[in-house]
Amino acid sequence: MARITANENVARLVPYVAGKPIEEVERELGITDIVKLASNESPIGPSPLALEAAQTALQNIRMYPEGSCYVLRSKLAEHLGVPENMLMFGNGSDDLLHNLGLSFLQSTDEVVTGAPTFSQYRAACNLAGATMREAPLRNYTFDLDALADLFNEKTRMVFVANPNNPTGTMNTAAEVERLLDRLPERALLILDEAYYEYVESGDYPDSIQYVRDGRNVVVLRTFSKIYALAGLRVGYGIADPAIVRYIDQVREPFNVNSVAQYAAAASLDDPGQVKRNREITHAGKELLAAAFEQMGLDCAPSQANFVFVDFGRDSMQICDDLMRRGVIIRPGKPFGTPTCARVTIGTQEENERFLRALKEVLG
Ligand SMILES: Cc1ncc(COP(=O)(O)O)c(C=O)c1O
Repeated sequence: MARITANENVARLVPYVAGKPIEEVERELGITDIVKLASNESPIGPSPLALEAAQTALQNIRMYPEGSCYVLRSKLAEHLGVPENMLMFGNGSDDLLHNLGLSFLQSTDEVVTGAPTFSQYRAACNLAGATMREAPLRNYTFDLDALADLFNEKTRMVFVANPNNPTGTMNTAAEVERLLDRLPERALLILDEAYYEYVESGDYPDSIQYVRDGRNVVVLRTFSKIYALAGLRVGYGIADPAIVRYIDQVREPFNVNSVAQYAAAASLDDPGQVKRNREITHAGKELLAAAFEQMGLDCAPSQANFVFVDFGRDSMQICDDLMRRGVIIRPGKPFGTPTCARVTIGTQEENERFLRALKEVLG
């Protein structure tokens, strides 16, 4: 083949490294009965209503989906109490992050976020050839004052994961509002709330109100986590209609498939399943936090469906040893925190299995 090279922004990108799928570990290690606590997925799955809607939608997959996500849009608008033209949808919120980068960033711009955080912010930044500026977390938490200290006339996009991935920590309304007050006029604050339904703290920001108030804010959420539809890929954003129109200009025409649209819409009719997911997460988090404390391990205060634990030594070997015992968790090295690991909350049985294996591994 002739020497074909990608454009220089693409050449610098690194592919996303996902949590190991169960099937891959089964093949590699020749073991079965694996517990995967590595990708912040729901342990109990979606609402039966969502599954039923997906089955029905399957009958019609010879047809293209509705590019506007008509049914999902109107149900979600009502659910959130926002106008339909303030909603945008993506093939996961990953897709929206990508499209936000494509739409609003160029090579002379700067992007500000915390570190460590979700890798796709950097991907969106790099794709545009923009410059990433990061403020280290403080006490496992986004230090929003430190982010604001990085603002200048080139700042065009600011990413805040709230709660943050991989640490699960949260920023309060007061902190976010202080950041907003310092946000440069031409910058957009992306509040990524993939885990917002798990939050129990009372001082969590009412971020949709910032959008209603005309602040430069985009709120991102997903059906992958508490609605347990990660495999179908549906994320959404709440933003000023002008932002939504730009995203409409760059997105693929049918970027959310029909099965996903109907399953997501139906899952809004089942608050009971959301409550069950929340309760199981809460109970699991308490169990893991108590066990870590007993083992003398430091762990971040999580408001999400996972915990970030510091083993005090290289976690890679610990993660490998756990995998050999059939438990997959996420090592901290790719996040730049090599002694830590991220553990998704599972069912009680899965959490107990993880703790048993961990005790064996730590000796
Ligand atoms: C903070 C954060 N944002 C966005 C996503 C992407 O979610 P999805 O593309 O499945 O909607 C994730 C997934 O893990 C995440 O942790």
